[in-house]
Amino acid sequence: MKVKVSRKAHFNAAHRLYRKDWEDSKNNEIFGKCNNPNFHGHNYEMIVSVTGEIDPETGFVMDMKVLKDLIKVEIEVYLDHKNLNIEVDEFKSLNPTAENIAVVIWKRLRPHIHKTNELEVVLYETPRNYVTFSG
Ligand code: NI
Repeated sequence: MKVKVSRKAHFNAAHRLYRKDWEDSKNNEIFGKCNNPNFHGHNYEMIVSVTGEIDPETGFVMDMKVLKDLIKVEIEVYLDHKNLNIEVDEFKSLNPTAENIAVVIWKRLRPHIHKTNELEVVLYETPRNYVTFSG
């Protein structure tokens, strides 16, 4: 009997979507306002979910205090109030789209989640636009 437990968290970060190897005109055509060379910010909201069997001893799939602290250390401290393009290693050569940010978050959390549990990351870039990655 598998149960999914979830925790919400958020961080603010700035980014710019562009490719160095494209002309300005093509970057503007594909990325629009997100190609602003002066960067712009988003209030990112995320939902991190862990799915697995309930431990018969504790009644938990995963201790939510542990999940909370893990998200704090690995994601919030790492990304909050950062310029993703400039300050975060993963995005030095990777466009910081919501899709790529969700994958980076998943990869940072995955090693800390019990092997038999599944991990899913939902990342909201705006209240209406969100992406999901589960490996
Ligand atoms: Ni943007």
